[in-house]
Amino acid sequence: MESKQQRYEQSYRELESVLEGIEDHVAVMATINCILKTNMEDFFWVGFYRVVDGALLVGPYQGTMGCLRIEFGRGVCGTCAAEMKTQIVADVHQFPGHIACDSRSNSEIVVPVTDKKGALIAVFDVDSTRFNTFDEVDREWLERIMARFFH
Ligand code: SME
Repeated sequence: MESKQQRYEQSYRELESVLEGIEDHVAVMATINCILKTNMEDFFWVGFYRVVDGALLVGPYQGTMGCLRIEFGRGVCGTCAAEMKTQIVADVHQFPGHIACDSRSNSEIVVPVTDKKGALIAVFDVDSTRFNTFDEVDREWLERIMARFFH
């Protein structure tokens, strides 16, 4: 059985190969979603919210219907955007102001996405139907993926 580490290593290699020469953010986002949702376990909802007009607007995603617009500071995504810090939530029902787009989501990780100048352009959100799915391994790899393909 493949470990989480091995699944990330494989995904990173696939992304490096398919995204060679691609800089368009929407194309990069759609491809990251596809490869991670295909390769990783428990990635029930995976997608990007882009910074548009001072709020987070839904961007490319795979999964059930996501909410459209999230204010900075609201829910897990809005907290990630406001603090520009990865949020790992073991039980979303305990997170103050959590926005429930799909009641089946029970844990979540949200990673800030910055451009090469360090400006926030989006957040990357993964939801799992299991509790306590995400840990430092996910943080390390997802932050590495965002830095590699958006900087
Ligand atoms: N759970 C998120 C909202 C976005 S979705 O889950 C797709 C939040 O509280 O930020």
